[in-house]
Amino acid sequence: MSQQDFLIKKASVEYKSPSNIAFVKYWGKKEDQIPQNASLSMTLSNCFTQTKVNFEHSDCFIIKSLLLDGKSNELFLKKIRKFIDKNFESFKFLNNYSLSIETHNSFPHSSGIASSASGFSALVMCLMEFEAKLNGSQIDLKKASNLSRLGSGSASRSLFNGFAHWGESPLLDSSNLYASEIDYKLNIKDCIAIVSRAQKKTSSSAGHGLMESNPFAEVRYKNAARNLKLMDKALQNLDFFSAGEVIEAEAMELHALMMMSTPSFILLEEESIGIIKLIKEFREESGLPIFFTIDAGPNIHILYLDENKTQVEKFIEDKIKAKTIDLIFDEKGSGPELLESFYE
Ligand code: PMV
Repeated sequence: MSQQDFLIKKASVEYKSPSNIAFVKYWGKKEDQIPQNASLSMTLSNCFTQTKVNFEHSDCFIIKSLLLDGKSNELFLKKIRKFIDKNFESFKFLNNYSLSIETHNSFPHSSGIASSASGFSALVMCLMEFEAKLNGSQIDLKKASNLSRLGSGSASRSLFNGFAHWGESPLLDSSNLYASEIDYKLNIKDCIAIVSRAQKKTSSSAGHGLMESNPFAEVRYKNAARNLKLMDKALQNLDFFSAGEVIEAEAMELHALMMMSTPSFILLEEESIGIIKLIKEFREESGLPIFFTIDAGPNIHILYLDENKTQVEKFIEDKIKAKTIDLIFDEKGSGPELLESFYE
């Protein structure tokens, strides 16, 4: 055993990490989680995962337990074990530690809000914080983003304040391996209209896989590259009308691709379509910049500016609420936050 193994006998690190909502969607990947196209997302504030990792010196690396919302969850434990084993070269510092993990989402998991994004980024930040303490160094966010990406592509974008882009593109510091922060000054709100809490029948991983045989794949990757440039320009110019047009086109294209996959699948529910129609109607009547986006699920993200909050939230209360089982009011947020750390 190296000297380093005795430096920390026991530790506990807790992080809170946000989910994100993609304005330009990542859909389709190559080997090793390399995206087929660059994506761009807004970091959320109220949708987050809080994860605590307890480390204890041990003969070998094991994950002793994983509690999701206080309950033991074998499926998540296996998923995390597989992720760490597969990338063990980067997690060698865990060689002599046993881990017990406690995690909690502030929103329903596996229903189209990116719980894998906040979940993997929160876990990776706990592990990176521990490694940094062992080495007497600082967390390298690019490395943390890269490792989060290997857990779930969208997780690479959850480590940054405001907005992040991931994948090779003309944007500054672009990479297929990690995401980078990008500062747009718009104060965007996101009300998530929850229409179902059911587990998805087709996972994102299966959906990415189906892009390989999708006849529209090449068209999609070309459109995504064009949309990224349009989105960057619109957000830089604080032109939410132009950004919104692209945001909606991206959401529709994502779900059209699902419908055109073989086998085809539909994640939208009747209420999802109803809400989309109401948003379009309200936009036409009010002239306000209010738009929708959708992730891989049936829930509708309603996007609007802080300055239009009163009118839009009245519309949500009057017209949208009845079509939902819950509403989550969220907005542009900051990256991960260290809540607690203790070493012995
Ligand atoms: O990170 P994954 O593998 O769960 O894929 C996310 C895919 C979308 O949420 C639909 C789009 C995106 O860019 O977040």
